[in-house]
Amino acid sequence: MLPVIILLSFCLISTSQSQQLFGCDFEESCEHFLFDSYWIVENVSSHADHTYGNLSGHYITYTNSSVLQPFITTLRTRDWINTSSNLTAWFSNWFYSGPGGVYYQLELAQGDDLQARIPVGTIGFNPDDPQWRCTSIEMPYVNRFVPFILFTNITSSLDLDDISVYLSYSSKPIPPIKTMFDCDFDKTFCPELVSLSNYSYSWSMVQAEQAQNYTIQAPDVDYSIGDKTGHYMWLNNSDSLQSGGAGYLSTRHFHFTMSDGIYCLSFQYYRFGVTFETSKLTVLALDEDNQKSVDQIWPIDPMNYIYINQRWSWAYAPLPIGNYSLLFRMDSEYQVNSSFAIDSISVSSCEYSQEYFSAISNIEFACDFDSSMYSTCGIQNDYTDLRPQSVLNFTIQSPNNINDRELGPRQTTGWSGEDFYYWSRSPHTSSILTSGQFKTPLIETNRDMCIRFAYFVNSTNVQSNENNTKIAVSVRGCEIENIWSIELDNSLGWQLVVKSFTPNACREAVYFRITQRRPTRIAVAFDDITIAQCGTLNVLTTIEPPITTPSSKTSPNSIDLIVLITSLLAALQYALSFI
Ligand SMILES: *[C@@H]1O[C@H](CO)[C@@H](O)[C@H](O)[C@H]1NC(C)=O
Ligand SMILES: *[C@@H]1O[C@H](CO)[C@@H](O)[C@H](O)[C@H]1NC(C)=O
Ligand SMILES: *[C@@H]1O[C@H](CO)[C@@H](O)[C@H](O)[C@H]1NC(C)=O
Ligand SMILES: *[C@@H]1O[C@H](CO)[C@@H](O)[C@H](O)[C@H]1NC(C)=O
Ligand SMILES: *[C@@H]1O[C@H](CO)[C@@H](O)[C@H](O)[C@H]1NC(C)=O
Ligand SMILES: *[C@@H]1O[C@H](CO)[C@@H](O)[C@H](O)[C@H]1NC(C)=O
Ligand SMILES: *[C@@H]1O[C@H](CO)[C@@H](O)[C@H](O)[C@H]1NC(C)=O
Ligand SMILES: *[C@@H]1O[C@H](CO)[C@@H](O)[C@H](O)[C@H]1NC(C)=O
Ligand SMILES: *[C@@H]1O[C@H](CO)[C@@H](O)[C@H](O)[C@H]1NC(C)=O
Ligand SMILES: *[C@@H]1O[C@H](CO)[C@@H](O)[C@H](O)[C@H]1NC(C)=O
Ligand SMILES: *[C@@H]1O[C@H](CO)[C@@H](O)[C@H](O)[C@H]1NC(C)=O
Ligand SMILES: *[C@@H]1O[C@H](CO)[C@@H](O)[C@H](O)[C@H]1NC(C)=O
Repeated sequence: MLPVIILLSFCLISTSQSQQLFGCDFEESCEHFLFDSYWIVENVSSHADHTYGNLSGHYITYTNSSVLQPFITTLRTRDWINTSSNLTAWFSNWFYSGPGGVYYQLELAQGDDLQARIPVGTIGFNPDDPQWRCTSIEMPYVNRFVPFILFTNITSSLDLDDISVYLSYSSKPIPPIKTMFDCDFDKTFCPELVSLSNYSYSWSMVQAEQAQNYTIQAPDVDYSIGDKTGHYMWLNNSDSLQSGGAGYLSTRHFHFTMSDGIYCLSFQYYRFGVTFETSKLTVLALDEDNQKSVDQIWPIDPMNYIYINQRWSWAYAPLPIGNYSLLFRMDSEYQVNSSFAIDSISVSSCEYSQEYFSAISNIEFACDFDSSMYSTCGIQNDYTDLRPQSVLNFTIQSPNNINDRELGPRQTTGWSGEDFYYWSRSPHTSSILTSGQFKTPLIETNRDMCIRFAYFVNSTNVQSNENNTKIAVSVRGCEIENIWSIELDNSLGWQLVVKSFTPNACREAVYFRITQRRPTRIAVAFDDITIAQCGTLNVLTTIEPPITTPSSKTSPNSIDLIVLITSLLAALQYALSFI
């Protein structure tokens, strides 16, 4: 998308074919454009202005008084530009500069947060002689945007005058807007939107009046119709809001290819409640077939995002190329009573640059270490909070290729294939290597989440009940929360652990850590790690897993253990069919 740029010593800005939207000649205060603090209109001109062509006219000057020269200085319109059918918007301005260079970039910003940006192009000037010159840029056809002019690399003096935005006939055919999804819950109902089960919160459709009757802070009008008879999706803020709770509204599957061009998501949201604090709305793209991985769609820059309260606000974001459904996730970090309503969701073609789906996190996670393609499922050895020189890495092994067959594990867990994640110390291992740690990829956690995994520990040269080895599972990323730990010498075969997460809604990773007090010969293995909503693991939790550490005196014999493992296998396969 190359902008049409006209660089002239005169500008034809008001012809019968064009209609000025905004203009500033700096003879009066400039209402329609916003300049950052590096610009000033001087009362005494040092050269003729452009409007009058004499010294009593005014223009705006880029000042360089601050100690740190800004790399970028910005000019934008105050109001939105709404283009219509066959008209496109042009930006034109007169500038006086030289000798030296000035560059400016034009970007079109969309969404109330102005975070979605279409880069239109960069123009550079390097005039030797200062005189008034004009630039005019045709902006791509975009409905509703704010143009941002970003000046960079200013090495000259710079004055601007007679800046304007006007609508004129497009120099190119305007591509038709293709809409792939459109839902306002009044004219279009979307039964394909579903609230995912097994989460604390569920989304539902409601009429504005009914929502108001239920919760006075709820939006009293919807967005699309604009009155109390209109409908929207909401998560009511009754007493159901809990710390760490989350709920997802899911769209159907989309399949965006490079040849389709780019599509954008547009919707309106409304945050309501008495206090707001930590309730968040995010939109994620979920690729079910790729490890349930997610990419963040909106907010585009979450760190700098501030939610708008108690009014409808426009959210807008380009969508990446890939196969995925969209998830609207509402979560609350603490127990607060603020919640969200959403309306007028659409997916339509737009002019952004192409990007590919890029997994940043997962909504669930499962790894049995058996996949030849992706054997560690993104699990990595990690040194966080350990002395790096004490760390021994985990590796994928199977009963037949471990280096200390006697210690084991001599069997698989029975729930998956041969391979597991293995950490061992032989008598030849350097005595300083006494710890190990791995972490999962990032996961979108919430209070209804559980982890299930199998572990194996066997060691020698330990006294009875010495508990020389500690294994601990924690969640890190937002706060450090310990989920489970045990101190032991021998697990007596594979053991299964099912634990629920701490009530925390965040994007974080799960860490598995081994530490030995005293270096001994040991084999530790983990396998069949599943992190999912507890509801989907329920079948298994009803069977009491052998998670207690039996003392060596009362160890069950190996026959008992195999029986137990086989019955768990059946339950696990049943449970897995739900994930
Ligand atoms: C220009 O004059 C006006 C009115 O006399 C004054 O308010 C303003 O501060 C002056 N601006 C500068 C940049 O001196
Ligand atoms: C500058 O031009 C304006 C508009 O033509 C005029 O009103 C004003 O008197 C001129 N000033 C001088 C100093 O010539
Ligand atoms: C564009 O439309 C919005 C409402 O949709 C309105 O608030 C805004 O003033 C319009 N902009 C212009 C330049 O008319
Ligand atoms: C532009 O669109 C308007 C309304 O859609 C139509 O009346 C007009 O004829 C069009 N003009 C051109 C030049 O296509
Ligand atoms: C602006 O200056 C920086 C650093 O001097 C340089 O890297 C960059 O290429 C320049 N940009 C343009 C558009 O010339
Ligand atoms: C801005 O300030 C720097 C440092 O004071 C100076 O080198 C530079 O020439 C100035 N630029 C302009 C346009 O005045
Ligand atoms: C969890 O989801 C499964 C599958 O969708 C469903 O069968 C089960 O009833 C749900 N459990 C709860 C507690 O919602
Ligand atoms: C809301 O409450 C008013 C007054 O109690 C009642 O007349 C109206 O029918 C209620 N509306 C809905 C949709 O429940
Ligand atoms: C509000 O949420 C609660 C708990 O999820 C649910 O029982 C109730 O039916 C909801 N009320 C409305 C009006 O949607
Ligand atoms: C251990 O794992 C880390 C992280 O994957 C890696 O950087 C390091 O090279 C590994 N060390 C050895 C000895 O393999
Ligand atoms: C643990 O190691 C000992 C000694 O090497 C071995 O006899 C025993 O069978 C191992 N236990 C398991 C469960 O593999
Ligand atoms: C080792 O752990 C077991 C089980 O948790 C416990 O009963 C025992 O007291 C511990 N031994 C020592 C020495 O702390």
